[in-house]
Amino acid sequence: MAIERTFSIVKPDATKRNLTGAICAMLEAGGLRIVAQKRIQLTLAQAQAFYAVHAERPFYDELCEFMVSEPIVVQVLEGENAILRNREIMGATNPADADAGTIRKEHALSLGENSIHGSDAPETAAEEIAYFFSGLELVG
Ligand code: CMP
Repeated sequence: MAIERTFSIVKPDATKRNLTGAICAMLEAGGLRIVAQKRIQLTLAQAQAFYAVHAERPFYDELCEFMVSEPIVVQVLEGENAILRNREIMGATNPADADAGTIRKEHALSLGENSIHGSDAPETAAEEIAYFFSGLELVG
């Protein structure tokens, strides 16, 4: 398997509880390298555009409001099979279903406030990285 890149967000519930470092340590211990990272405050329009794929879902407004409630940390993660590996390290979307030792099992508060986002496929990883990072921020 070739080296791959994926996109990750440390979400507001985690930055608010000062868990950015703890979550980064779990990503690194799981074999991923943080090759780009920044802490930002999304506008509502930016959150709505990022989650546009969920625009028709009943939780969309709640999700977007949550994502602007505190700063977030956006990241590019690199490693072997990074998209799948990151999803293993994160655990299931709902922390109630997540395996022990995963980020969501250890830190998430609920299905909505689930501490971390990760891309689900190569196409979305490329789109999500490009949404938040310019080429100049992505060191080879
Ligand atoms: P994420 O990986 O960021 O992608 C979309 C997010 O929507 C997901 O994580 C959850 O945090 C959130 N989500 C999914 N289902 C629900 C739901 N039923 N209610 C509230 N939030 C949800």
